Amino acid sequence: MKFISFVLVITSFIFANSLDNSFITRFEYGAMLYENPRGVGCIKCHGKGNKPVIIAKYKEFDKKTKKLVEKKIVAPAINNVSFEVFLDKLRSDKTESKVMPTYFMTNEELKSLYYYIKNIK
Ligand code: HEC
Repeated sequence: MKFISFVLVITSFIFANSLDNSFITRFEYGAMLYENPRGVGCIKCHGKGNKPVIIAKYKEFDKKTKKLVEKKIVAPAINNVSFEVFLDKLRSDKTESKVMPTYFMTNEELKSLYYYIKNIK
């Protein structure tokens, strides 16, 4: 009997926590998602998120000038984007960007992630 009530206490505790996730702040939750959004972490390309990051450099042959020109792929700073731009980007699929992956996040996750990136110093 003791054991059963112990199990009940534990499960109700876990259950209560899953309903109310205020045991971590929205900022902390957003930070977790930023590093581990069920996919490639934003941090891998955007770094801290507060300044542009060069993620690749390559050379391309320019037919007109017959010279190799240096090109680069840049992940922009994202701490100042509007919620509209953010949502648009995070809900777009792979066909819309050759670089950024497609993510599948819930509205709650998107809100916390946006809250986090807006508060990156
Ligand atoms: C593989 C690299 C890569 C990863 C991982 C990545 N991004 Fe990006 N992101 C880019 C690049 C490159 C751009 C520039 C536009 C484009 O090519 O899509 C961009 C653009 C954006 C933009 C639009 C910025 C603007 O000013 O229009 C936002 C917002 C953004 N990323 C947020 C995120 C978030 C949040 C994550 C994680 C869930 C993430 N990115 C993961 C590479 C990446």
